[in-house]
Amino acid sequence: MSSAKQAQQQSSSHTLFSLRGSLLTLAILTLLSFTYLSLKYATPPPQVSNVAVAALNDVEHKVEEEEEKGQEFSDVYHSPRVFKLDFEEMENKFKVYIYPDGDPNTFYQTPRKLTGKYASEGYFFQNIRESRFRTENPDEAHLFFIPISCHKMRGKGTSYENMTIIVQNYVESLINKYPYWNRTLGADHFFVTCHDVGVRATEGLELLVKNSIRAVCSPSYDVGFIPHKDVALPQVLQPFALPSGGNDIENRTTLGFWAGHRNSKIRVILARVWENDTELDISNNRISRATGHLVYQKRFYKTKFCICPGGSQVNSARITDSIHYGCIPVILSDYYDLPFNDILDWKKFAVVLKESDVYQLKQILKNISQPEFVVLHNNLVKVQKHFQWNSPPIRLDAFHMVMYELWLRHHTIKY
Ligand SMILES: *[C@@H]1O[C@H](CO)[C@@H](O)[C@H](O)[C@H]1NC(C)=O
Ligand SMILES: *[C@@H]1O[C@H](CO)[C@@H](O)[C@H](O)[C@H]1NC(C)=O
Ligand SMILES: *[C@@H]1O[C@H](CO)[C@@H](O)[C@H](O)[C@H]1NC(C)=O
Ligand SMILES: *[C@@H]1O[C@H](CO)[C@@H](O)[C@H](O)[C@H]1NC(C)=O
Ligand SMILES: *[C@@H]1O[C@H](CO)[C@@H](O)[C@H](O)[C@H]1NC(C)=O
Repeated sequence: MSSAKQAQQQSSSHTLFSLRGSLLTLAILTLLSFTYLSLKYATPPPQVSNVAVAALNDVEHKVEEEEEKGQEFSDVYHSPRVFKLDFEEMENKFKVYIYPDGDPNTFYQTPRKLTGKYASEGYFFQNIRESRFRTENPDEAHLFFIPISCHKMRGKGTSYENMTIIVQNYVESLINKYPYWNRTLGADHFFVTCHDVGVRATEGLELLVKNSIRAVCSPSYDVGFIPHKDVALPQVLQPFALPSGGNDIENRTTLGFWAGHRNSKIRVILARVWENDTELDISNNRISRATGHLVYQKRFYKTKFCICPGGSQVNSARITDSIHYGCIPVILSDYYDLPFNDILDWKKFAVVLKESDVYQLKQILKNISQPEFVVLHNNLVKVQKHFQWNSPPIRLDAFHMVMYELWLRHHTIKY
């Protein structure tokens, strides 16, 4: 399909949206002006006014109908109806071209592995090839994927500095070989990594930083990540050791839990302030395997609120662990652009705090009533599917959510 035709189709669906909006506005305006007229002249023209009311009712009715159909997409989304419709449009239309260059045995094309703390990167590289979104025809692509893996470079012992150079050389070779980059100077190109190197790996090429979309697991507002252009990738440590939690509120008797390395300022403070508390289960150190089989994971099933302080980066796989095990994540990272923040309303299934709230942590959590906790827990179960990777990918999983974020950003680039 030609891109002009696609653009036409897109704009026609947008027209549909704005048509409904303008119909509603028109109906309200008509109603208001007739109300005004009828007050002024005391001779209401009822038949016309009725038409306006009927139009208004009709629009309202249609909106309600659609909202009912969108039940599957409720509560936890900022705009359930828009998300549902736009997601479907993405499923039908979105096309991505993967540059074929680079040896899969070095840093390119294929994932290093689908396990461990950087599994999200591996899954993305794997999923995009298995998905319906891939096209072999660059002329029908909305976006272009730069398939270079920082996780694989790290596996081969490449230093952070050299990663930046290797990414730069690779992208420059694509710029010289293909005409696509130069059309928008990289604005319809994207790069993905879950490695801690994050956006730094792109810093060798100014336009990659300025124009391209970078999907990374460490998306902090204060270090190079650009929230309205780049994408926060969820960090997920897969496979999960135990099945997902949910509908198990009676078993959640511990108020709060955290155990881990003290490798950041906030973690040091958290441990120092709460280590001996009788209601918050905060341990100073990671629970070692010697303590018993899966003791760490099993704690998540027994806890209401799992504390997720940032480590060396704002993100941590603990957040998606908490979501998986049905324990409300308590986000304790300043400047964290949370994954899917623009689609999901995190406040409906998580507790998002400032780092300075750590001193009031217990009182804040105790202040959340049991009914409020139940709502959070039920919502958490609804979002679990969005934070899991699968191979092949399945509808609405982490891969599809990342693709949807890319789809949203492609709307602003028109070539
Ligand atoms: C970085 O690249 C330079 C030049 O290619 C090389 O000599 C050096 O060994 C590399 N260092 C690492 C850690 O990869
Ligand atoms: C894209 O532009 C750069 C800079 O002007 C140029 O060096 C390069 O050859 C161009 N690429 C292609 C494929 O024409
Ligand atoms: C609560 O915990 C017990 C003991 O571990 C377990 O057998 C039971 O299935 C749990 N209840 C729910 C609803 O998960
Ligand atoms: C916690 O208990 C240990 C051992 O009694 C003690 O050394 C430490 O100072 C206590 N921490 C706090 C914050 O009270
Ligand atoms: C807990 O709730 C009470 C009453 O609503 C409020 O006054 C207090 O500030 C809250 N404390 C914290 C730490 O949120």
